[in-house]
Order: sequence, then C-alpha cells, then structure tokens
Amino acid sequence: MQTGNDYLKQALETKDDSFEASLRPSGFDSFSGQEKTIERLKVMVGAAKRRADSLSHILLHGPPGLGKTTLALILANEMGSQIRITSGPVIEKASDLAGLLTNLEEGDILFIDEIHRIPRTVEEYLYSAMEDYRIDIMIDQGPNARSVRLTIPKFTLIGATTRTGLLTAPLRSRFTLKTRLDYYSKEELKKIVKRTCALLNIEVDEDGAMEIARRSRGTPRIVNNLVRFVRDYSEERAKGVITKHSASKALELLEIDENGLDEMDKRIMKVMAQNYKGGPVGIGTIAVAVNEEADTLEEVHEPFLIQEGYIQRTPQGRMLTPKAWDVIGIKNLGEDFMQGSLF
Ligand SMILES: Nc1ncnc2c1ncn2[C@@H]1O[C@H](COP(=O)(O)OP(=O)(O)OP(=O)(O)O)[C@@H](O)[C@H]1O
Ligand SMILES: [Mg+2]
Repeated sequence: MQTGNDYLKQALETKDDSFEASLRPSGFDSFSGQEKTIERLKVMVGAAKRRADSLSHILLHGPPGLGKTTLALILANEMGSQIRITSGPVIEKASDLAGLLTNLEEGDILFIDEIHRIPRTVEEYLYSAMEDYRIDIMIDQGPNARSVRLTIPKFTLIGATTRTGLLTAPLRSRFTLKTRLDYYSKEELKKIVKRTCALLNIEVDEDGAMEIARRSRGTPRIVNNLVRFVRDYSEERAKGVITKHSASKALELLEIDENGLDEMDKRIMKVMAQNYKGGPVGIGTIAVAVNEEADTLEEVHEPFLIQEGYIQRTPQGRMLTPKAWDVIGIKNLGEDFMQGSLF
C-alpha cells in the first residue's frame, strides 16, 4: 500500500513534465512569493535590458519544488533569451561542457540543474568560461597532447542546486547573484492553490484552499500534487467541490497531518526521541535508524523541520525542540533525564 510518505516522496521526485509545465508561471507577474529573490532578479533583468547586455550569472538554491527551474524559465522569458537546459550529472567530461558552451549563441541562457553534481575536474573549466568566455581544453594524449583555446559567446549561466554547501568556493564566487528560495507562507500557498485550481477548472472554496495550503510543507510542487489528489477525492466522495471537509478527508487518507508532517518526518522525530532522548544526534545515525538516505533527510526533511521549529541544529548534532515532543505525543525524555540527574 502506498503510505502518505511514499506519496509525498513521489510528489517531490516525479516531475511530471507536462503537468508541471502546464502549471508553471511564465512571467514575474504570475509567480507569487519569494519577494526578495524576485526583486533582486527584476533589478538585474531591468538593468541588463537597459544596457542591452546579457544577464550576469545567477545561482538559485533551496529545497526541491520551490521554483528554481520555474524561475530560470521566467528569466529567459523576461529577457527574451533562448534557454538551453541541462543538468550536472549529464556533464561527465570537459568535452561535454565544451560542446554545450560552444553551441551557445550570444545572450543565451545555459541552465544547469543540480549543478553541485558536476564532477570537480569538469567544474574547473567552468571558471574561465564564466569569467572570460573561453575555455582551454586538452586534445590528444601523450606527445601530441596540446591545449586548444575555444572562445564562447557571451552567455548567462543559471545554476540551480538543493545543496549550495557542496559547491566549491571558486564556483560559487563566480555567480554575481546567489539567491536562496525559502519555504512559502500559508497565504502564498493558498494563492497558488487557487491559481492551480483555476487553471485546471476545479472549484475550490476559501477554506478548502487554505486546508491544502496548510498541509503542503511550504512547497508549490506539493500544492499542485495535492490539488490533483484532493480533486479526485472530491469527485469520488464529495460533490466535486474542494472544501475544508473534503480536503482534510483526502489528506488524512494520504497520512499527511494538519501540520503538513508526513510519516517520515514523524519517524525521524520519534527515533530521535526514543533512541536518543531528543539528541544531539548526527544525521547519519538518524538516516540509518529510519532507513533513508542521509542526503534525502538533509535536502527534503530536515530543512522543513528546522524552519517549522521542530529540530535544532547544534555543533554536536540535531536536537528536538519542545514543539516536536508535543507533536509526536511523547513525554520529553531529555527533560526527565536532566531533572533526574539534578536530584
Ligand atoms: N511561486 C510559484 N507560483 C506558482 N507555482 C509555482 C511557484 N513556484 C513553483 N511553482 C510550481 O511548482 C512546481 C515545481 O517548481 P520547480 O520545478 O520550479 O521547482 P524546483 O525548485 O526546480 O525543484 P527541484 O529542486 O526539484 O528541481 C512547478 O510546476 C510550478 O508550477
Ligand atoms: Mg528544478
């Protein structure tokens, strides 16, 4: 059986292109939230256009599903530029990168998704490409080996990553703007719910929209996937309209609670509570205990739990907050422990 957690995981991982593409805002006007990032991007686009210049390099980082790819496409639209889309793991060798770069035209945008996954040896070639619009690559081997300099048209690199910490400092420093996308507020998500429903011709009332927004972990991609499921539920079990009641029934069925926490979030907190008295405990240890990859915990679960104040990061490891003990319904063992030691 598919649990709520599987559903959320799938919702985050499956990027159903045609569905996502149909719901993607295409300009700044239809993109809600991320005010600071949007303002920064608008300034850069405005200035570049006024100077009839290309945009300088931009790094978008933040958890999955918050709009990095969407913003890259919006930037291309707003600039009226062509965009080439690729991703870190696809660029295996320096020659792959050279091929991509030399095929660009002046003013094009090259979007590299998951840029932290470019191999280190290839990454170094990006430095001169970004800075001086040239790369020196070695051709041939042994005594015939020689370096060839290729010039590249003036282009814009937009990098996206969920793990900015994995980028090397030299690469990071070559982006003019590094901007972080944060989880969306409930009000912003509610707007996105209503927009998605309007585009899909689904009837939703104010409370129904809020119910979905509250349980979407601050993430538009989850909004869109939950809207689809709640619509199906409402058609099958209610009168087709998404209301607070039909939405909460549907989301209960997916095991997503009122706080947007899924089964894995709760398992993480329970393991921390029961096995480690609330911490501090390292992420690797938690990962083994909940049988999930440490990367997934760090990219998907931990940022949300930290932002919502369930977990704190300390130099010794992760710790549960009082709010977490409340939500998992376990008495704070850490406190008992500490009190016990006082007597
Ligand atoms: N601000 C927004 N307003 C409306 N819809 C949005 C917004 N941001 C994202 N979306 C929707 O959420 C979906 C996911 O966004 P997107 O693919 O841009 O995320 P991402 O940050 O690139 O994720 P990943 O890290 O997994 O690649 C898109 O289909 C888009 O329709
Ligand atoms: Mg993306």
